[in-house]
Amino acid sequence: MAEVVLEHVMKNYGSLYAVNDVSFTVNDGEFVALVGPSGCGKTTTLNLIAGLLPISGGDIAIGNRVVNDLDPKDRDIAMVFQNYALYPNKTVFSNLAFPLQMRKLPKAEIASKVAEAARILDITHLLERKPRELSGGQQQRVALGRALVRDPLVFLMDEPLSNLDAKLRVQMRSEIKRFHHNLGATIIYVTHDQLEAVTMADKMAVMNGGFLQQYDTPAQVFANPVNMFVASFVGSPAMSLISLQAVSRGTEVVLQSAEGWELPLSPANARKALSSTTKNVVLGARHSTLKLHKMQVSGSVPGKIYTVEPTGDVTFAQVFIAEAVVNISVDPSVHLSPDEPVWIEFDQERVHLFDAETTSALTVR
Ligand SMILES: Nc1ncnc2c1ncn2[C@@H]1O[C@H](COP(=O)(O)OP(=O)(O)OP(=O)(O)O)[C@@H](O)[C@H]1O
Ligand SMILES: [Mg+2]
Repeated sequence: MAEVVLEHVMKNYGSLYAVNDVSFTVNDGEFVALVGPSGCGKTTTLNLIAGLLPISGGDIAIGNRVVNDLDPKDRDIAMVFQNYALYPNKTVFSNLAFPLQMRKLPKAEIASKVAEAARILDITHLLERKPRELSGGQQQRVALGRALVRDPLVFLMDEPLSNLDAKLRVQMRSEIKRFHHNLGATIIYVTHDQLEAVTMADKMAVMNGGFLQQYDTPAQVFANPVNMFVASFVGSPAMSLISLQAVSRGTEVVLQSAEGWELPLSPANARKALSSTTKNVVLGARHSTLKLHKMQVSGSVPGKIYTVEPTGDVTFAQVFIAEAVVNISVDPSVHLSPDEPVWIEFDQERVHLFDAETTSALTVR
């Protein structure tokens, strides 16, 4: 296995920059998820690493070797795509053996490599079947096996689970995690599903509009999103964002809504709010950090129930606060009706503040 280093990587199609000055390092044996909305440049980034597209600028290194000008076949990578296209007329064994036969490996070595891959992926009992005799998840494992037998430096996977139904996707998620764990493989995994990234990866690279927004562990990205885009992309339901104005009141700083209510800030949050380029500040809060009250309590702000979504274990209330819709999780036993007035309490230790002009997270320097 090997590390993969991207330095200032660019890919443009005329004036469109599909990948714009992207730099990150995938350590040897790490599982990195590339995430972001449709069109943000995930597949392009993966194809640049694979060598399926020429880069317009920057450098890509795989295992200490700059591969900018190397053909895909010389990069020692294996790709698994969304459409895994197995050979329909070949058995599972032959599907796995084919890439090795192409490399003219001795028969005995092919047989042992296929047996090993089949064991890791638990498809030994399927080796004599044809792809049409397999379930979607089994076919996906054969596609993984075909990458695995090649014993590459790096696995590149582009939305390999998106053709599977929701239940199978969750199951394959843990299988790929085991695959990574058992092999200690370097994996770069593209998905638009932030939940897949958060649950599977050691690190996630969040992209938007060709730019890398944040590269860190899922826990760090979740706890300390660097800007409003990352804050609202990672986490489900999304972090709620409320546009307010920071106003000094003597020694205090409060956040003021257009409706007139004021939320006093803790000293640490006050310093953050004052570092904003303008008075316009965005308050961010995750559903689990908010408390909903049916009566006004000190430090709470008024809102109105928009919708209520019971999910069984937990009920999600959407509450209108200062022209924003805010997600709050409440106990299923709490009865709430649309348009009911409620009061929301923020946890000062766990709110996020963003500069409304730059969209960056405000931090205390
Ligand atoms: N051959 C091409 N010519 C021109 N523009 C392209 C080409 N290939 C991709 N693009 C553009 O580059 C941008 C990034 O595309 P890319 O396929 O990397 O997105 P993605 O993040 O993988 O999206 P998705 O989640 O929909 O697969 C998009 O705006 C796309 O339209
Ligand atoms: Mg894509």
